[in-house]
Amino acid sequence: MASLSTSSLCIATLLLVVVSWGTFASARNFYQDFDITWGDGRAQILNNGDLLTLSLDKASGSGFQSKNEYLFGKIDMQLKLVPGNSAGTVTAYYLSSNGSAWDEIDFEFLGNLSGDPYILHTNVFSQGKGNREQQFYLWFDPTADFHTYSILWNPQRIIFSVDGTPIREFKNAESIGVPFPKAQPMRIFSSLWNADDWATRGGLVKTDWTQAALHCFLQELQRR
Ligand SMILES: *[C@@H]1O[C@H](CO)[C@@H](O)[C@H](O)[C@H]1NC(C)=O
Ligand SMILES: *[C@@H]1O[C@H](CO)[C@@H](O)[C@H](O)[C@H]1NC(C)=O
Repeated sequence: MASLSTSSLCIATLLLVVVSWGTFASARNFYQDFDITWGDGRAQILNNGDLLTLSLDKASGSGFQSKNEYLFGKIDMQLKLVPGNSAGTVTAYYLSSNGSAWDEIDFEFLGNLSGDPYILHTNVFSQGKGNREQQFYLWFDPTADFHTYSILWNPQRIIFSVDGTPIREFKNAESIGVPFPKAQPMRIFSSLWNADDWATRGGLVKTDWTQAALHCFLQELQRR
């Protein structure tokens, strides 16, 4: 197993596993299905491709994207989020197409101070228009274990689920003039970055970089 970045500013690690591609029937392997796109070594694929970790430090976050594009399907992603003081961080997992009239389906996790709840933020963009945010508090600590966050996308509806429980349905309402994402293939993206200008309590709580080295150290210990 490769070792994590030992940068003293490393703040956080996120572990992800793709469990099933539903109708994509893909190989479920991060090496085969994804490219690390940014972060200069802060994103790492481990365990023969079963696991991907993202980390963040003061200089950069990290992220990856799918090699393939998909038009409809069901994606189940298992995530374990940044533990401890994650205030100011955003972990995103989303589908997106390209261009100025892009479509996008978002799961975003807004970090918080130790003991305070993450916010799960969802959004749907069709043809470049968003403003369809809905936010949720989770009924468990998303940093303690892996949980499955799913997007079901078909021509009739988009359903966001957590551990198999639907939390949001976005129906195709084109018949009443609401654009619905159904013509542009999307890629799967995921990233971890610092957004302390807005993420936690609307930007009031900043990322605490003084704690960062400690977080990394603890995570290293947990891995041994
Ligand atoms: C986006 O644009 C690039 C470059 O033109 C292209 O290769 C890619 O397939 C497009 N679509 C998505 C969903 O990324
Ligand atoms: C962080 O915790 C505070 C206090 O419980 C809460 O009001 C807030 O919604 C939580 N989430 C974020 C992302 O600020």
